[in-house]
Amino acid sequence: MPGINILIGDNGQGKTNVLEGIYYLLTGKSYRVQREQELLRWDQREFHLYGDFLMAHHRVSLESHYRDKKKIVKVNQVPCQRLSDFVGTINVIFFSPDDLVMVKGGPSERRRFLDLHIAQMRPGYVSLLNAYNKVVQQKSALLKSFGDKSQLYSQILLWNEQIIKLGEMIIRNRVDLTKRLQIVADHIYGNLTSQKETLKVTYIALGNKNVNEAISEFPQILNDKLEQEIERQMVLIGPHRDDIQIHLNDKPARLYASQGQQRSIVLSLKLAELELIRQEKGEYPLLLLDDVLSELDRFRRDYLITFIKSSCIQTLITMTSAEIHLESGALYFVENGHIRGGC
Ligand SMILES: Nc1ncnc2c1ncn2[C@@H]1O[C@H](COP(=O)(O)OP(=O)(O)OP(=O)(O)O)[C@@H](O)[C@H]1O
Ligand SMILES: [Mg+2]
Repeated sequence: MPGINILIGDNGQGKTNVLEGIYYLLTGKSYRVQREQELLRWDQREFHLYGDFLMAHHRVSLESHYRDKKKIVKVNQVPCQRLSDFVGTINVIFFSPDDLVMVKGGPSERRRFLDLHIAQMRPGYVSLLNAYNKVVQQKSALLKSFGDKSQLYSQILLWNEQIIKLGEMIIRNRVDLTKRLQIVADHIYGNLTSQKETLKVTYIALGNKNVNEAISEFPQILNDKLEQEIERQMVLIGPHRDDIQIHLNDKPARLYASQGQQRSIVLSLKLAELELIRQEKGEYPLLLLDDVLSELDRFRRDYLITFIKSSCIQTLITMTSAEIHLESGALYFVENGHIRGGC
């Protein structure tokens, strides 16, 4: 149904599974796990997902089939050759309490947040990331191979050229997104805290806040790391090691943000993401909120619900029966893996 859809059910009944299925169908990836094998129902070798989506001006049907470690995706019954052919057909944002790792977790969580967003907006970005990761893997294999040292240097230089070329494109995409997120997220964070607190997100490229400087010095930075990389047999610098700095009132949120402040930061970033997708695509994405409402205080919860309602964002919210009462929204009951209702 358009608007708010509430999935109610006790713990372990399958609510998260429903959202996970929708997310996978729209992105070709799980929000939770790395490998499709982990998504299979116990003692099954295949899964099949089907969905019909009504957009502002057109209708899209999506299918995703996984069998014996092979994946087939169809858009309007036509098989897609590559993931990038369909990712972004319909945009989606997932928000669950696990997303707090964006603030307190390691840099990979923050890079993932940016990468998932860019991949939905620019289908070619997935191929770019894959190509870059392959180069990093190959350089890493070379560093571990104990070959003739003079040959090692010349081969590393070849891989470094690729790292610079592909890495610069990744960095520029991420910086562009971070800058746009910063403006919207700070505004939302200000509203959430009655303008008492400020939020600042900055992309740190190759250890440097000044991206243009980092990119122009990229070859030198790689050269300076060469001996250390050989010694540690690891690729130590590049966008696969970059981070986003999140500052709350000009202090690192990772160290100082309380639980509630962390939630507000993630909420602001997610709502900013929604807004950016609307600006670019002309429509809000589908919003999947898993167990989020019970984690927010009343003011933030009301802010989120008002934001969703006033913007008419189609949203699926999971909650247990004992939780918050929402005045409006279609209700579905999830029990033992089955859904009923819709009124
Ligand atoms: N691979 C699997 N095959 C079949 N069932 C599974 C598999 N993995 C998990 N389950 C079961 O699926 C159920 C979990 O469903 P899900 O996480 O969607 O529940 P939920 O309604 O979101 O619960 P909660 O309110 O606790 O978050 C559990 O009962 C779990 O034991
Ligand atoms: Mg759940």
